[in-house]
Amino acid sequence: MERSLEGKEIILGVTGSIAAYKAVEILRELTRRGAAVTVVMTESAQRFVTPLTFETLSRRPVLTDLFTLEYDKQIGHVASAGRADLLLVAPATANTIAKCAHGLADDFLSNIYLSSTCPVLLAPAMDLEMYAHPAVQENLSRLKGRGVSVVEPEYGELASGLIGRGRLAELSAILQAVEDILHRQGDLSGETVLVTAGPTQEPLDPVRYLSNRSSGRMGFAIAEAARDRGAHVMLVSGPTFLPTPPGVTRMDVTTAEEMYHAVLDRLDDTTILIMAAAVADYRPSTQARQKIKKREAMTVELVRNPDILAEAGRRKGSRTLVGFAAETEELIQNAREKLEKKNLDLIVANDIRVGFGGETNRVTILDREGGVEELPELTKREAAHRILDRVVALRKPTP
Ligand code: PMT
Repeated sequence: MERSLEGKEIILGVTGSIAAYKAVEILRELTRRGAAVTVVMTESAQRFVTPLTFETLSRRPVLTDLFTLEYDKQIGHVASAGRADLLLVAPATANTIAKCAHGLADDFLSNIYLSSTCPVLLAPAMDLEMYAHPAVQENLSRLKGRGVSVVEPEYGELASGLIGRGRLAELSAILQAVEDILHRQGDLSGETVLVTAGPTQEPLDPVRYLSNRSSGRMGFAIAEAARDRGAHVMLVSGPTFLPTPPGVTRMDVTTAEEMYHAVLDRLDDTTILIMAAAVADYRPSTQARQKIKKREAMTVELVRNPDILAEAGRRKGSRTLVGFAAETEELIQNAREKLEKKNLDLIVANDIRVGFGGETNRVTILDREGGVEELPELTKREAAHRILDRVVALRKPTP
């Protein structure tokens, strides 16, 4: 169903691709749905379509020249003052993608990209070899890692006559991505979201520990996505090299017991708890004070760690509780058992071959009513938004 974009302020960046003419149709649709659109064109885009076309349809001056003060003042209040709701670049060439990825600012559009604080959506369009080139792919994954959304190009006939992936995504796919981003904004405002991320490390002696392969990426992506949707976000993280997302309050812990206290001490202030951490179920019963010397064989006795989520489930109240499950067998059945046993609202079952470590995840979301939503492989940021979509739906007061 088509959703209104009334009251939304969008900056549409148009770059020098043969698909630049399709940006005219994108502009028409955005304005038809009620958005106010400011168009920014790169120099090479103007070789494909004239600014006049966009000016007429947007009823606003088109921004082209970095050195025109008049323009600068205008975009200053649209972009930097945080008034823009979205920066959409369609089509996005390999050149503009590279500039964004590396922080170059030599034209109006790249300046706006660097100074805007709003969500950014790129719709790449280029020849198939260019799109497949590792440099372009690395730039795109760098941008995705920073939270930029990308509408992947389509497979089909290209301007070169070759057939492959590189065609600008269909209008409907671009508009869907715009809607998804704009309608998520602010839907978690007023909520306090506590997210856990990463592994725990359970020390054996001063240099050794038991742990797992969690990188923290899934939890960090949830923290960032919740922040972008207006929540106050606290992040309890096990050891990871990931930088703290701006605007998120982070507490670092090492062991499961430390994570237990960090979470439960903050539970009263929390309205939504999402436990993406891979908490060690066991720890060595004793921790040697000195480094353990080599011997022929060795037995380590393990004791159970406290179950943080189960305890939060016992103190649930009106909170929304979301757990994760990573399994090597009987994924759905085991996840459902955890959902019930720990008194959760949702559990996110991971495909263990994808979820641990990398930038993407393939998840299935289970709810208390027996619902099973299977998602395709997505970036962790996109998976995070899909999980939060479900949380938002649960938090909505029933009419
Ligand atoms: O960090 P990444 O590399 O991005 O990888 C993400 C992930 C695969 C680690 C993550 O998506 C994930 O699946 N985390 C949960 C891993 C798991 O198998 O959890 P579990 O089945 O042991 O526990 C179920 C739930 O209870 C989890 O939400 C867990 O955080 C929680 N738990 C578990 C044990 C314990 N002692 N206390 C807990 O609260």
